[in-house]
Amino acid sequence: MKTISIAIDGPSGAGKSTLARAIAAELGYLYVDTGAIYRTIGYYTLTHGIDPKDSAAVAACLPDIRVELTYGEDGLQHMLLNDRDVTKEIRLPEVSLCASAVSAHREVRAFLLDMQRQLARTHSVIMDGRDIGTVVLPDADVKVYLTASAQARAQRRCAELEERGTPEPFEKVLREIEERDWNDIHRDVAPLRQAEDAVLLDTTDLDFQESKAALLNIIRKRTSL
Ligand code: DC
Repeated sequence: MKTISIAIDGPSGAGKSTLARAIAAELGYLYVDTGAIYRTIGYYTLTHGIDPKDSAAVAACLPDIRVELTYGEDGLQHMLLNDRDVTKEIRLPEVSLCASAVSAHREVRAFLLDMQRQLARTHSVIMDGRDIGTVVLPDADVKVYLTASAQARAQRRCAELEERGTPEPFEKVLREIEERDWNDIHRDVAPLRQAEDAVLLDTTDLDFQESKAALLNIIRKRTSL
């Protein structure tokens, strides 16, 4: 069976996951949030007192980690860490910077690569992350680089946190977004960058519905969907 792969990359807070999830539901594809996989490793380091920036220490703990990605009856992606469902815990703000730090290590990326590719071999997917179009699925049928200004992304993240009942000051959220951007763009291994054949979509001035329409338009132009 021919499967279709749609790769969506971009900085944190650009709306990748919300948009990709909505479009996957519309097209009947599997939505794969690869950031959640790095968050799971970041969460492990946080709860085991391991410095996520220490590549040797992180590499040494990989044999003790079993990461599984499953889909619940709700159709949502769940992350299992050594058989424990950590889907909620990995969203804690303190896990974000740990995830960014562990994702810079070559050993971590190699450890997770096959799991991501395997999903795309067996399903039509919309996969979002930082290196999907450049490294994980270089032959994806559609590649989109989704971005927005850091200010707009911080505003959206603040609204999201407030909705969840865990508000944070705007300046702090903006600083963390800028720090993660810097880490993700400047790392040596699989840095965040637009693939040469990716279509750029800047959602700074677009609301959700406008962004979704623009993204669907790009997908339809590149496929026969
Ligand atoms: O998308 P997110 O914010 O949940 O991702 C968490 C971190 O994981 C992010 O700072 C960078 C890293 N990441 C990555 O390096 N490669 C991916 N494909 C996805 C995420």
